Amino acid sequence: MIKQYLLSPGPTTVPERVMLRMAAPMIHHRTPQFSAIFAETREMLKQIHQTTQDTLMLACSGTGAMEASIINLCSTGDTIIYVNGGKFGERWGKIAAKHGVNTIELKVDWGQAVALDDVKAALDANPQARGVFVQASETSTTTEHPIREIAALTRNRENCVTVVDAITALGVINIPMDDWGLDVVISGSQKAFMLPPGLATIALSQKAWRLAESATCSTFYFDLKTERKNQQAGKDTTAWTPAASLVIGLNEVLKMMLEEGLDNLFVRHTLLAKAARAGLAALGMTLVSSAPATSATGAFIPEGVDGGAFVKYLRDTMGVTFAGGQDALKGRILRIAHLGYYDVFDIVIAISAIEIALNRFGHPVQMGQGVAAAQQVLAERFVKV
Ligand SMILES: Cc1ncc(COP(=O)(O)O)c(C=O)c1O
Repeated sequence: MIKQYLLSPGPTTVPERVMLRMAAPMIHHRTPQFSAIFAETREMLKQIHQTTQDTLMLACSGTGAMEASIINLCSTGDTIIYVNGGKFGERWGKIAAKHGVNTIELKVDWGQAVALDDVKAALDANPQARGVFVQASETSTTTEHPIREIAALTRNRENCVTVVDAITALGVINIPMDDWGLDVVISGSQKAFMLPPGLATIALSQKAWRLAESATCSTFYFDLKTERKNQQAGKDTTAWTPAASLVIGLNEVLKMMLEEGLDNLFVRHTLLAKAARAGLAALGMTLVSSAPATSATGAFIPEGVDGGAFVKYLRDTMGVTFAGGQDALKGRILRIAHLGYYDVFDIVIAISAIEIALNRFGHPVQMGQGVAAAQQVLAERFVKV
C-alpha cells in the first residue's frame, strides 16, 4: 500500500465531514427538503462572496462560469480587455473569440502580475470596453493579480465592469466583492470549496446585472437572468437540474468555513503559503512567481532533473500528487496546493517528499533542510505554552 496525498490545486482533498454528508441517500431536487438546503447554502455563499447580491450556483466546472460571465455581459461585436498571464487568463480570449467578442489582450510574462498602468492605458484607449477580465489567482503560474486596484479603475466607468475569476482565490484570500466594487466573482467547487469538481458559483453586482439586460450573446443553458429568477429567495431552486449532491456538499463546506471564520481562514492559508515558500527556498528552489499566490506555490525543478518524471515519481512511487507545469512551464515546475482542507502538516509532507525525491533524482539536498525552514513558519500556528 502507498498512502495517497492530494496536493494539487484542484481537485483538492475533500474533508471526511463533507464526504459523509454527500453520501446520504439522494433526494429529489424539486422538493421542500432540497429547497431548504439550497436557500441556506445560497445565504452562506453570500457571506463567502462577501456580497449582498444574489450568488448563483451553476452545474458546470469553473470554465462554464467564465463563459457565462462573457456571454451574459457582452454582445457579439463588443470589446473586452483581458489579462493573459497564464493558461487561465488566455482562456478569456478563447471564449470571447467563440462568441464574436473582440478582445484587447494584456499579455503578461508568466509569473508576473499585470501592471496597473497597462490596465489603465487599455481602458483609456478603449472607452467602449465592456469590462476587464482577470484572474485573482492565475493557477498556472501561481500568481496573484491586483484585482482591488483594477476594480477601482472600472468603478466610475458607467458601462465597464471588473470580472474576476476567483476560482483558486475565493475562500483563500480576502475578496470583499461589494467593498472593492468587483462586478463579477467566480469560483469552482474543486478548489477552496473542498468538493469534487462540477459546481461553479458566480455573483454579479448591480452594475453587471444592468449590463446583462442589454447583452445579446446567445445562450440557453447559461442564461444568468433565468437562473437568478429561479435561485432567488422564495423560489430556492435552479432553472435546470442542479448538481444536487455538490450543493448538499457545499452546504456542509460553507458551515465549516463559517465555523472557522473568514479571517482565520485567510490567516491559515497565508501561513501555509509562507511555509511552502520558505521550505522550497531552503532547498534552493526558485519560485515561479514574483507575486506568489496564497492558494498554491510553484517552483522551478532544479536543472538536470527531468521535471515530468519527477512529478510522476512523487505521485506514482511516493503517493504525493502535486501539479506540474502547463505549456511553456511543462516539465519545468511543480506546484504545491494549499487551498482548502490543508493544514500545517500537509506542508511538512509536501516539502519532505520533495527532499526525498530530489535525492533520488541525483540532486542531493540535506534531508530535513526544507522541512526545518517550513516548520519555523508553521510553528506560528500554535500558541506557546
Ligand atoms: C484560475 C482558474 N481559472 C479557471 C480554471 C478552470 O476551471 P475548470 O477546470 O473548473 O473549468 C481553473 C482550473 O484549474 C483555474 O485554476
